Order: sequence, then structure tokens, then C-alpha cells
Amino acid sequence: MTRTLLLGGTTEATRLARALAEAGADAVFSYAGRTNSPVAQPLPTRVGGFGGVAGLVDYLRAEGITRVVDATHPFAAQMSRNAIDACAEAGMPLCAFERPAWRAGEDDRWIHVSDMAGAVAALPEEAVRVFLAIGKQNLNVFAAKPQHHYLLRLVDAPETELPLPDCAVELARGPFDLAGDLELLRHHRITHIVAKNAGGTGAMAKLTAARKLDLPIVMIDRPELPTRQVLGDLAEVMAWLFHASDA
Ligand SMILES: NC(=O)c1ccc[n+]([C@@H]2O[C@H](COP(=O)([O-])OP(=O)(O)OC[C@H]3O[C@@H](n4cnc5c(N)ncnc54)[C@H](OP(=O)(O)O)[C@@H]3O)[C@@H](O)[C@H]2O)c1
Repeated sequence: MTRTLLLGGTTEATRLARALAEAGADAVFSYAGRTNSPVAQPLPTRVGGFGGVAGLVDYLRAEGITRVVDATHPFAAQMSRNAIDACAEAGMPLCAFERPAWRAGEDDRWIHVSDMAGAVAALPEEAVRVFLAIGKQNLNVFAAKPQHHYLLRLVDAPETELPLPDCAVELARGPFDLAGDLELLRHHRITHIVAKNAGGTGAMAKLTAARKLDLPIVMIDRPELPTRQVLGDLAEVMAWLFHASDA
């Protein structure tokens, strides 16, 4: 019998959870616990870190897990590295369910950077108006350029003081659409966007909106991960879970 641990936090994970529930599969959904009201899942759900690689190995053994699907966000690199190491140690099959990265089109003005520090460096020295579309983590890195006005779009209201002296917060949860993102960029008179190359459709509208308004995007490329099996399609993941030779 297959018992799956599904590492979540993305729309891919939510789609897979629905498919697993509809198939009557034995599975546990895992959230990091970053948001106050995470999307409810149709599977038994646990919340919170495992305690590093050792904690995850213990969890896999204690819960009788037989397969792990890493459907965390492409920028949740620590969790993905831990999953690779823990599954190797426990001899457990692992696959990542991940959407392809976005690619710039001819009319896009993307400046590629490899990390947050690169994104800060890519912003101009003179004061501009930045849509900082990176969630709530890593904001302190941008405090190095306090001259800019920053627009943040967050799921939950910030509980501590933000490290950016001149910023506005928009509370919203994706998916976002083009009309809404055009309005947002125009209303806040945004001149620059900083984005993570998340891929997928839920957060893609800002890219189209930027193209229409001819705005530059500082695009943070995905973190590099050790080699692992990556599947991009729900049917492939279900087949890997239930029809692989060792399933
Ligand atoms: N990073 C993003 O841009 C982003 C965007 C949208 C959604 N998310 C989601 O938000 C969550 C946290 O992202 P992050 O970037 O903070 O992760 P991260 O830096 O890779 O992970 C830090 C630690 O958080 C715990 N953790 C992360 N994902 C977990 C999960 N699904 N279940 C249980 N524990 C988890 C693990 O703690 P232990 O070491 O104690 O096990 C991990 O070592 C993930 O579920 C991710 O899918 C992230």
C-alpha cells in the first residue's frame, strides 16, 4: 500500500490533494504554517516544520510513509533540499511536482538576477516606485535602498513593523487577474517590479500587466537544487504514485 506525504503550499499541491482524496488514497498533507488561514485540504493535514532532515526522516518512519511528493514553491529551497536528503537517507522514492519557470517574451523588459541581493543591486539609485512582489520574507534586504517607495502584496497583515520606511501594503491572495494587476500598477504609479520566477498562472498577470505598461521587471531566478525527479503534470504524478514498478 502507498502512503504519501505531500509537501504543500502551492496550487499544484492543492490540485494533487484533491486528486488523491477523490482516489481515496492514503496521504498526509503538510503545511509549513506560514499563513494564518491556509487553504483547507481534503486530506489529513499536519502543520509546521519537521525539525530538519533528521526530523523528517523520523516522521517518514513513524508515519509509515512510502512516497514523498514535494509540491512546495520553487523558492522553498530549504524544504526541498531537506526532502532530497531525508528521502535518500530513508531510501524513500521522492518526486517534485513543479510548474515550469516563466520565460521572457520579445516585448518583456526583464533584468535577470540570481538572488535577493542581486535584485536590490538591480534597482536604480534614484528614488523609484517598486512593486515588490516577493511575499513577506526577505523584505529587510531591500532596506539597503530606503529611498524607494515599495508596494507589497501580502496574504496576511504584517504583525511587526516593516523594515521599509516608505511602503504601502495591499492585502490579497491569488490567483490574480490582468485587469486587477493593471489597476494596481497604475493606481500606485509603479515604475519597477521585483518578482520571483514562480511560474504558473496564479501570479502571472503582473508579467502581462508590466508588458502592457512597458515596465521593467527585476526577475529573481529560481534557486539551484540537487538533481531530483521533477514532474510537471498531475496525471504523471498520480501514475508515479500508483503505477510505478516499485509502487
Ligand atoms: N518561498 C516562497 O516564495 C513561497 C511562496 C508561496 C508559498 N510558499 C510555501 O510556503 C512554505 C514555506 O516556504 P519557505 O520558502 O519558507 O520554505 P523553506 O525556506 O524552504 O523552508 C524552511 C523550513 O520551513 C519548513 N517547511 C517548509 N515547507 C514546509 C512544508 N510544506 N511542510 C512542513 N514544513 C515545511 C521546514 O522546516 P523544518 O526544517 O523544521 O522541517 C523548512 O526547513 C512552503 O510550504 C512553500 O511551498 C513559499
